[in-house]
Amino acid sequence: MKQHTTYCSLTVGLFLAIIGAAVAVEGVNHPYWGSPKAPRNLLRPSPSKEKFTERSLPKKLPKAPETEWRLPTALKPIHYVVQLQPLINGNYSILGHVEIEMEVLEPTSNVTLHINSITTFDSTIMVAAAGGGAEVSVVSTSYDSTYDFFTVDLAEQLQVGQNYIISMDFEGYLDNNGYGFYRASYVNGNGETVYLALTQFESEGARRAFPCFDEPSLKATFDIILGREDTMIALSNTPVIDTTPIEGQPGWSWDSYATTVVMPSYLLAFVVSDFVSNTTTTSTGLPFGVWARQQKIETAQYALDKGPDVLEFFEIYLQIPYAMPKMDMLSSTDFGGAMENWGLIIYSESAMLFDPEVDGLSDKQGTMLVMAHEIAHQWFGNLVTTAWWSHLWLNEGFASFMEYNGADFCEPSWNIKDDLLLNDHHYVFELDSMALFSHPIIRTAETPTQVDMMFDSITYSKGASINRMQNYILTEGTFVKGLTNYLTMYQFSNAYQDYLFEHLTNAGHADGTLSTDMTMKQIMDTWTLQAGYPLITVNRSADGTSASVSQKRFWTNHEDTAETWWVPITYTTQDNPNFDNTQPMMWMADTDLEITVDTLPTQDQWVIFNIQETGYFRVNYDDNNWDLLFQQLATNPDAIHPLNRAQINDDYTDISRAGLLSYSSVMEKMTYLRKETALAPWIAALNNFDYMDTMLQRTRGYNAFKNYLLDLIIPLYESTGFEAKDDVSPQEQKKHMIAIAWACGLGHKDCVQNSVALYEEWMKNPDNKRIIHPNMKKTVYCTAIAEGGVAEWDFAWSKYMESEAASEKYRLLEAMACSRDSDVLSRYLEMAFSRSSHIKKDDAHMVFTSVTKNTVGRDAAWNFLRNNGRSISKRIYPSKSLRDLVKIVTDTFNTAEESAQIEKFQRLHSKYFSSVYAEEVTSIINNNILWMDRNYDIIMKWLAEHGYDTANQN
Ligand SMILES: *[C@@H]1O[C@H](CO)[C@@H](O)[C@H](O)[C@H]1NC(C)=O
Ligand SMILES: *[C@@H]1O[C@H](CO)[C@@H](O)[C@H](O)[C@H]1NC(C)=O
Ligand SMILES: *[C@@H]1O[C@H](CO)[C@@H](O)[C@H](O)[C@H]1NC(C)=O
Ligand SMILES: *[C@@H]1O[C@H](CO)[C@@H](O)[C@H](O)[C@H]1NC(C)=O
Ligand SMILES: [Zn+2]
Repeated sequence: MKQHTTYCSLTVGLFLAIIGAAVAVEGVNHPYWGSPKAPRNLLRPSPSKEKFTERSLPKKLPKAPETEWRLPTALKPIHYVVQLQPLINGNYSILGHVEIEMEVLEPTSNVTLHINSITTFDSTIMVAAAGGGAEVSVVSTSYDSTYDFFTVDLAEQLQVGQNYIISMDFEGYLDNNGYGFYRASYVNGNGETVYLALTQFESEGARRAFPCFDEPSLKATFDIILGREDTMIALSNTPVIDTTPIEGQPGWSWDSYATTVVMPSYLLAFVVSDFVSNTTTTSTGLPFGVWARQQKIETAQYALDKGPDVLEFFEIYLQIPYAMPKMDMLSSTDFGGAMENWGLIIYSESAMLFDPEVDGLSDKQGTMLVMAHEIAHQWFGNLVTTAWWSHLWLNEGFASFMEYNGADFCEPSWNIKDDLLLNDHHYVFELDSMALFSHPIIRTAETPTQVDMMFDSITYSKGASINRMQNYILTEGTFVKGLTNYLTMYQFSNAYQDYLFEHLTNAGHADGTLSTDMTMKQIMDTWTLQAGYPLITVNRSADGTSASVSQKRFWTNHEDTAETWWVPITYTTQDNPNFDNTQPMMWMADTDLEITVDTLPTQDQWVIFNIQETGYFRVNYDDNNWDLLFQQLATNPDAIHPLNRAQINDDYTDISRAGLLSYSSVMEKMTYLRKETALAPWIAALNNFDYMDTMLQRTRGYNAFKNYLLDLIIPLYESTGFEAKDDVSPQEQKKHMIAIAWACGLGHKDCVQNSVALYEEWMKNPDNKRIIHPNMKKTVYCTAIAEGGVAEWDFAWSKYMESEAASEKYRLLEAMACSRDSDVLSRYLEMAFSRSSHIKKDDAHMVFTSVTKNTVGRDAAWNFLRNNGRSISKRIYPSKSLRDLVKIVTDTFNTAEESAQIEKFQRLHSKYFSSVYAEEVTSIINNNILWMDRNYDIIMKWLAEHGYDTANQN
């Protein structure tokens, strides 16, 4: 993993040559009515006597053929002037004016644009030939709320070869719904509520701010003009080039911004707030700012230190300069996650801010990764944009892959690239083998609901994982060369995946890393156009020297289907181990159900396929080879690469879960973990034990299982100790966090007592922030609240109320869900979902999820849902509907009685919870029941035979 830094320094010289010729942002001279230099007054004569049509959200989305959801293809936007004045401290209206220059691709007699929740003033609509040409009379307007289409019918046809300009005034609304151009609020140091306006446009929110051609391929340049009160600042994608007072409105000014590069509407961003900034410049002279409210700006220091480094890393790595004339990164309340708006990235406070006083290593890594993700988007998504949402992985799969390269460059000691295997690859493996969650990476995305559903783990995590696979198939240098060519070819334009594959193929052929009779399209289509992934079964001959290698789709739940893939085969052997050779040694074609490998050692030597688990597939072996592998692990695990140890742990357990291996062997073989000292294999193993743990939690045999897990974990816990140490490597720190989380979670006395004592000390010295090390907070808070009573819970609540740091607030909310008092938990759930509580709407969902994770809590949450289902469904965002909450709480149901409760719930709540959802939930429960039927007795028998049913390891 360290070859990375070398790669970068080697290319610096080359890069500096390129950046000299950086893309200049060209100002375009457009003959508009109302020049951007002198913005028009948007206040309308009041009271408005205009006839207008209220545009509102479509209620029900009918099914429609794909093309009906797209704008007509006759017109293409070239340039916009967008002038907006949000009345943040007024009636929340957004006064707006827009002018759009359009090219005519086919003759047409209407202009059709996207609008949602906007009121147009129809008498202001004007259409005329560009360059001061003749006006075209408007006949009528109409609106189709299903498709968000606003149509302006014209008296004559617009002609090909002539550009036209449409202009109009309109009024929008700063809702508080987190979408479009909306309002957010926070409480300042004086206890006053302060409002701000900001945007979240992806995927279809720009049309809520101004009329536009709101599709990712309809790129244009934009001149933005924002009206703001003089006490506030306004930001957009480019720097301010002019500020003028608003005539007739004392205390108000217009900020005009430099013309953007060619870009899609969903990447625009506007912020009007009283935020403050801290700034720097990159070594290539790019202004780089971070923004936050006054109370928080100091905690933006880490983002300010590392953001410019990440940006410069990608410029060098991809050999393409960043295209905008500045970069700002801003954190806000009432914002979920992070958004890669070109030149103005917006984050939630917990995503961007890092407070070394209260936050630990995992918070820092989280900030680093999300920053690297959004900055990687400036190339993948912004410079080259997916042609349509169906190909979203070209944006998200790449940002999710590249974030690890960016983070690794900035923080080489973290070994963070390993996390992709655990966080993305292993995570999505589980979903991608279940009928309910698995689907192709590329899929139909026409309706708004379908477009929303593209933003899921298959797009992000499977996308990242297959990019990692491509990186190793071609080798890193060739892969990046292909990417550079692809990005350069389609810059300021759009792409389908075939465009990417063509450039990767060319690079592979040129460098000789891809055989000239193969193409990346041929290979990768099998991974992106079909769902799932293969299980590769390696069955060695009696003498061991050859093996049949076969492929079949891996299903957790015993389905049987016939998909095949192009599978890159790598392997290494005990007699000649080499874990660096990650290039394919041979291919299994999609027509090969089985191939033979005949260069293997004798039957007393192990073989391992899929070196460093770079391929997106699982491997099963014959019993003898599995035994050899685990004998090796039990004697000297270090003989096998840590990522292959993670692979072995994950594959063995999940193949058993699918019924192809036995759980008595899982129990037996995993005892090797007593010898395991590396992070990745531990995480892989524990993630799998997590499922077993949730299944067994409510059974009579749970104590025996706990004893078993503690027996494996205690050596790790004893090696790291309870106390956090700052002078050890990041890997050691993470091991420590895992060790105490599991040891305390399983009730290990030493861990529990220490946690309770620390928390007590904190309660006695509530203002001392140093008592509990940030890396230990999650475990210590949770353990002390679980062990404690109302006093411990109330103390956490008071800390939650007074804490300023979003991450600390989040931790406390999570920890308060650890209580084992069902009355406390019921009260907590009621607070979370009541309108008047101090828990943000978005966090209620997290509180609910956390409560269900604890044994007592799951029942409390289920009762709560049964009693309050109706009122809850009104208070949560549609995307976090009742259906999701039911899924979360019933995820661990595994008895027939529990299954029967779903049916009853569905009948009572049929209005909010359809029978289709009930069937989905029931299918998960049935799989859990099946798992219990097959494995419970086997596991308990093994545990009893090995003395765990009576042992007390505490
Ligand atoms: C909001 O206030 C502005 C400025 O006073 C006014 O022009 C506009 O008509 C108002 N909008 C609504 C919907 O009341
Ligand atoms: C607008 O014109 C296009 C052809 O350019 C046509 O397909 C579409 O149906 C028209 N829309 C309306 C609402 O008339
Ligand atoms: C702004 O950044 C500089 C240097 O990075 C730092 O020394 C200073 O403390 C920062 N100011 C604030 C208010 O955070
Ligand atoms: C493995 O190969 C042996 C013959 O070498 C065969 O008898 C056995 O059925 C095979 N096992 C599997 C799972 O294919
Ligand atoms: Zn992203």
